[in-house]
Amino acid sequence: MKVELLKFPYKYMEYEKELLERELKCNFPEGIISIVKNKITLENIDDNDLDKLYNLTYVYKYIINGQEHNTLQTKLEYSNTNKEELKRQGTRYSTHGLHEYKGKYNPQIVHGVLDILGVKGDAKVLDPFCGSGTTMVECAHYGLQSVGTDINPMAVLISNTKIKSLGLDTKYVRNFVKRAAHSVQNKEFDNDGKNDDHRMEYLLKWIPEKTLYIIEGLKELFEAETIDISNFLKITVSDLIREYSNQEPSDLRIRKRTSPFPNTPFLEAWLNNVYKYLDAIEAAQEIRTFDIDNNYAVLHDIRNGTEFLKKGDFDVIMTSPPYATALPYIDTQRISLVWLGLCSSNKIMKLESSLIGSREFVTTEKAKWLEEFKENTQSLPSELSSLIKELYDGLTEKDGFRKQAVPILLYRYFSDMKKMFDRTYVVLKQGGKFALIVGNNKTTIGGKEYIIDTPYWLSKIAEISGWNIEELLPLQTYKRYGLNSKNSIKSETLIILKK
Ligand SMILES: C[S@@+](CC[C@H](N)C(=O)[O-])C[C@H]1O[C@@H](n2cnc3c(N)ncnc32)[C@H](O)[C@@H]1O
Repeated sequence: MKVELLKFPYKYMEYEKELLERELKCNFPEGIISIVKNKITLENIDDNDLDKLYNLTYVYKYIINGQEHNTLQTKLEYSNTNKEELKRQGTRYSTHGLHEYKGKYNPQIVHGVLDILGVKGDAKVLDPFCGSGTTMVECAHYGLQSVGTDINPMAVLISNTKIKSLGLDTKYVRNFVKRAAHSVQNKEFDNDGKNDDHRMEYLLKWIPEKTLYIIEGLKELFEAETIDISNFLKITVSDLIREYSNQEPSDLRIRKRTSPFPNTPFLEAWLNNVYKYLDAIEAAQEIRTFDIDNNYAVLHDIRNGTEFLKKGDFDVIMTSPPYATALPYIDTQRISLVWLGLCSSNKIMKLESSLIGSREFVTTEKAKWLEEFKENTQSLPSELSSLIKELYDGLTEKDGFRKQAVPILLYRYFSDMKKMFDRTYVVLKQGGKFALIVGNNKTTIGGKEYIIDTPYWLSKIAEISGWNIEELLPLQTYKRYGLNSKNSIKSETLIILKK
């Protein structure tokens, strides 16, 4: 049988072209593929395999016997966008756009990679660094099952909210938000005694009083609703907090605002956002019913074992781990974390320093890691340990305070990732694959620039934990979202390991 396929009307990155070809080869191993510009001809495919066309990630339409069909990806990607406007690949469809999360990966790559790994039906996927839940939302879209873990409570809340919101009663929420906005607008805030508690004291420092009283009023109203509605609405407020706070919104760290506040009043901006998200959810709900019970996130430090998961239960692991010297995930969201009651203001730094790849140390930890590094007690590959030693020995007084810590931070990062490889190995089925997307690191020490080939070193560390390296595939011009151009990572690598 012969079918014709069309590519999406936007330009594909090099790695997307590669993933498209691999998807076709994996799904139709006997097929004869020819790709000319936007058209693909697929010959010699079995009638029984036609169902697979619907689930291809990088295919826009497929034509069988002159009849044109949209793939599920096309339906999702274009569900709430006028396709004439969509000159670039959409990434905020369905619930994906629900809350900003720095360093999130794009939804297409998740399903594209799962597809080339042969993940089908109701297979079970683990994402040990799930962040804002891109992996699990994609699994819910395609009928797969998934569990995500993350050490950041904000990430877990965003993930679970994105998943549960796929089943939201949007009509009810539309009516509710109208009433809620009206009610807080006309309400005197009862502030008795509240300024005394640490939370309010901190929030008053970072959020203008009038805005704070509005969002506190809203929060109280949300909490009288079901947990899924309440979380959805809290997330929509949280997503606006930085924009309306005394923090400089464009800054990942917490610096005082220098740019002007937005012109749109907070309540108006919030309502606009809620309606926009509800539109996207409704459009996705029209496509299919999503499995919102077998996809979820758990608050967990992946270094601490995986006993709460069943041994050998997962078919595949897919993740984008933190970088060595990663983004300040906690610092960026600290106002939201405090507002949501997920972390008290005096525990922020401790939480930030506990993340893998963090640039922060708790004072006592630094001395401990210096010792570990000197003795290589974590048994990292000797070439890696020597490289880190070279960086350490190359430090001069000209390297600032933060730079001085880089070699030890790298040692800690790779040691932590080794623990992660040990822990995740146990829960994967024999023969199962582990896909990681990660990029290099660059650092200048003693005036000399060093490129740390993080993907290579991670694969070497994984080998020590028993994994087999299948492949390291460079993803040309792939860029994670939300990184500003100065520190954006131009290209990443897809590491594929096998148990
Ligand atoms: C690159 S982000 C993942 C982004 C995610 N793929 C998305 O699309 O939103 C890496 C995540 O690793 C998490 N993380 C760092 N250390 C961790 C640990 N020890 N256990 C679990 N998660 C951790 C961070 O909180 C962060 O959310």
